[in-house]
Amino acid sequence: MKETLLAVLKSNRGSYVSGEELSRRLGVSRTAVWKHVKALRAEGYGIESSPRLGYRLVAATDLLLPAEILDGLLSARLGRRVVYLDDTVSTNRVARELAAAGEPEGTLVLAETQTGGRGRLGRNWSSPAGGIWLSLILRPELPPHRLQLLTLTAAVAAAEACEDTAGVSPGIKWPNDLLCAGRKLAGILTEGAAEADRLDYLVLGVGVNANLQEEDFPTELRGQATSLLLESGQRVDRAAWVRKFLLSLEGYLPAKEVVREEWRRRAVTLGKRVTVKMTGRTVEGTALDLDETGALLVRTENGVEAVLAGDVTLKSDIKEE
Ligand code: BTN
Repeated sequence: MKETLLAVLKSNRGSYVSGEELSRRLGVSRTAVWKHVKALRAEGYGIESSPRLGYRLVAATDLLLPAEILDGLLSARLGRRVVYLDDTVSTNRVARELAAAGEPEGTLVLAETQTGGRGRLGRNWSSPAGGIWLSLILRPELPPHRLQLLTLTAAVAAAEACEDTAGVSPGIKWPNDLLCAGRKLAGILTEGAAEADRLDYLVLGVGVNANLQEEDFPTELRGQATSLLLESGQRVDRAAWVRKFLLSLEGYLPAKEVVREEWRRRAVTLGKRVTVKMTGRTVEGTALDLDETGALLVRTENGVEAVLAGDVTLKSDIKEE
């Protein structure tokens, strides 16, 4: 009912629709219409009312409500079911629980804030209101050695969404950090569960510093992190960002070869001196390219090494430290 009311107001955006017409179209009393208007207002929609003219929608909500994601969503499979949470510990945690319980591919989990957002390598991920904190459930039929390509794909899709909706073109630091002039704009945490030799599910966790001001970041991140708002000077339509991300990602799946080319085009790592910290050891050398599995090829003193996982520091980062 509320959704239908919203759809009618949206299709007449800016113009009044009389209470009488709304009650007729919805098949409910005018008091019931009024109740739904109040509920929509509580969700952040700007709805003006006039006793004579009726109701009109003047501002969409800023929240990432399922109705906002689905309105204009062009992807066929990804994001067709949205689990929306006001506040949660971690969307990746929720998505993993859902996936383990049989949730199908494409379900999207979104939260306005996270109290225990997690980053790569066991780090914390600061998740205040205004960011985009999402997790997507995938069930890819991919051999394990192509999984890395999938996370690179997510980084390319996220970069495209930043370009499309905020006019910001981030670089990608291997494997999937989005940076603007060395500052972190977005990160991706891929987690999965495998059964014997096949992958059961994969959760793609994406965190984008969207509409965050400098003071929204914890003090230790200021100067190191950035946001779409800080880069473009404008608030981004977060729902539009999510829709574009889903559409781009769907277009590249299943981890097509073309994505390596797109990734290379945005890479800030290639050709640079890098230090890669891996579990138990560190590799130093020059980042040359990606191999066909998405591994980073690093020329070291001992030859070329394919790095599958690790934390990369660029030479320019080292100087700043
Ligand atoms: C990184 O370290 O760069 C990855 C950060 C990933 C953060 C996102 S926010 C949504 C999802 N839920 C989490 O707890 N983490 C990911």
